[in-house]
Amino acid sequence: MTEQPRPPAPPAGEPSVQGLFVAFEGGDGAGKSTQARLLGEWLTAEGRTVQLTREPGGTDLGQHIRDLVLHGEDVAPRAEALLFAADRAHHVESLIRPALQRGEVVITDRYLDSSAAYQGAGRDLGADEIRDLSLWAVGGLVPDLTILIDLPSVVGRQRRGGVHDRLESIEGDFHERVRQHFLDLAQRDPGRYLVVDGELAPEAIQQQVRERVRAVLGVSA
Ligand code: TYD
Repeated sequence: MTEQPRPPAPPAGEPSVQGLFVAFEGGDGAGKSTQARLLGEWLTAEGRTVQLTREPGGTDLGQHIRDLVLHGEDVAPRAEALLFAADRAHHVESLIRPALQRGEVVITDRYLDSSAAYQGAGRDLGADEIRDLSLWAVGGLVPDLTILIDLPSVVGRQRRGGVHDRLESIEGDFHERVRQHFLDLAQRDPGRYLVVDGELAPEAIQQQVRERVRAVLGVSA
């Protein structure tokens, strides 16, 4: 395959991205997928073009990486971090950035905060280094809004029952460290985060999500 020429850079001062980029984050079992889907349905009904996607596994290549990293044999922690970053780099380049440049809404179930929380804080690889790795991988693209669905890790574990992938099955305080890191990120940048109590009913969570997205889009109720 020959390399395609890159589109010219936009003139200085013009935003390079016209769409809306929303990420859902949170521990396992928090209900992110349901909330992402409900938000997508609502925005579609409002007339927006929506790309609903996820990490890892939002692309064909990403699906292979997902199988390797979640359901394969043991992966060294640094290799695990690089695999999630590789999935993200491809996801952004081939799906997310083009959609945003077309003015669409992209809703992703997990993005780079998941790496900072799971690999950085959970695996103890250094949250800042892991964040820098992901930022490099995605050319600095961060969401307009990150919605953190917060849930005590014991509740998440109960909800998942006996089914665990490689990360979910980690014991000890791993999942509480993950949760705390998500909360710290949100607290540091409240303008770009919404934190919702994951123990509320799904409809109540969705109501808060829509209110905030309305505010970000600047549309009335
Ligand atoms: P997820 O798709 O939310 O789980 P499921 O749909 O199976 O409930 O996430 C898969 C797992 O991958 C989850 O345990 C979190 C982990 N993960 C990381 O450790 N780092 C990352 O960067 C991402 C995106 C996910």
